[in-house]
Amino acid sequence: MKYIPIFLLSAFLSLTGVIAYAQEANYDESKVGSYTLPDALTTLDGRKVASKKMWEKVRRPEILKLFEDNVYGIMPRAKIKTCYRILEEGEAFGGKALRRQVEITFSSKVQTRKMLVLLYMPKGVRKSPVFVSPNFQGNATTTDDPSVIASQFSTFERAHQTSRWPYECIIDSGFAVATFHYFDIYFDKDDKLSETVYPLFGINDNSELKDNTGKAIAAWAWGCSRVLDYLLTQKNIDKRRTIVMGHSRLGKTALWCGAQDKRFAMVVSNNSGCSGAALSRRNYGETVSRINKSFPWWFCNRYQSYNADVSALPVDQHELIALIAPRPVYVASAQEDRWADPYGEFLSLREAGKVYALYGLETLQGNAFSSIGEHLWKGNCGYHIRTGVHDVTDFDWQSYIEFANRHLKQ
Ligand code: GCU
Repeated sequence: MKYIPIFLLSAFLSLTGVIAYAQEANYDESKVGSYTLPDALTTLDGRKVASKKMWEKVRRPEILKLFEDNVYGIMPRAKIKTCYRILEEGEAFGGKALRRQVEITFSSKVQTRKMLVLLYMPKGVRKSPVFVSPNFQGNATTTDDPSVIASQFSTFERAHQTSRWPYECIIDSGFAVATFHYFDIYFDKDDKLSETVYPLFGINDNSELKDNTGKAIAAWAWGCSRVLDYLLTQKNIDKRRTIVMGHSRLGKTALWCGAQDKRFAMVVSNNSGCSGAALSRRNYGETVSRINKSFPWWFCNRYQSYNADVSALPVDQHELIALIAPRPVYVASAQEDRWADPYGEFLSLREAGKVYALYGLETLQGNAFSSIGEHLWKGNCGYHIRTGVHDVTDFDWQSYIEFANRHLKQ
């Protein structure tokens, strides 16, 4: 028998994989099917929510709990000892910014874990607004600044992903930015619960998780809040202008973080897609069943029980966005990122508007998308769909900065 060259075999296997992957997803708007969204403004016992008071006192806590119990899971709430240590500080971008690298050590009786935060702050600004945004590949991959310390679990080369981090523009706009490698909090692999923050809380193995215990997204969101804890101790950071921003799985994270942590004054979801901004009940691109099969370690175990029937989910993603109300929220899509269902992201933001309206804010209306590359901003809800693929671009960042400047009060 002749041997098939390995590279041909692997090319064949990956091609069949790609085909199977593509076949499973629906990209035909006429096949999305009909669905009924849960009503953000009807309580579990059937009462209509007509005031912001009732939203805040009754309905908002209900929805938050439903997301905890059915989608993202509960992050253990035990108090963890936290220490901050400045590992390095210096000037950056020709003296326009101050760079600070802070090691945050979490310790409990059973475990210690460290996260490394890279922070750039504009000089000469008395109180800067700040973006908190986790990165995928490690702090040193986000910049060619040679002083940036490599994150402990990063396997990528320096400056490998700089295009997603236009730090100098952010600084020039008067914003500070803080990032950390998401692996510091939860190694993004199912079998690695021991390599996450969960052992701090005495959870070491999947078998110890309840159906509604959080996993990766809950933990990454927790990590963003821990960075905010530190930032709020800093005099030159403006407490009233803090923004959590994330791309893709970290966009899902940003939404869940902002939904829970009201100290974040604004939330940005960049191409967050399924189980992020996109409506789950739309059969378009990635589905709940598909995401649960590919990434079972992102969500709580109970989320799996909706794989066969997503209509049984007691929430949909417009209600996640609604939890951010009345704070400014920005949802951004990319034209070629059909997997993330751009139209489903838009509809979700539009539906969340019903809660923003309780606060007397203008909201998105109608079925039409914004034109490609144009801003659709109404009240505190911002949306755009830009050209190109699943990514974070300068256009995205510029949009977030401009939106924050308009919507966050100094
Ligand atoms: C996969 C996944 C998405 C996710 C994305 C990412 O494509 O299916 O849900 O948003 O990875 O995080 O890059």
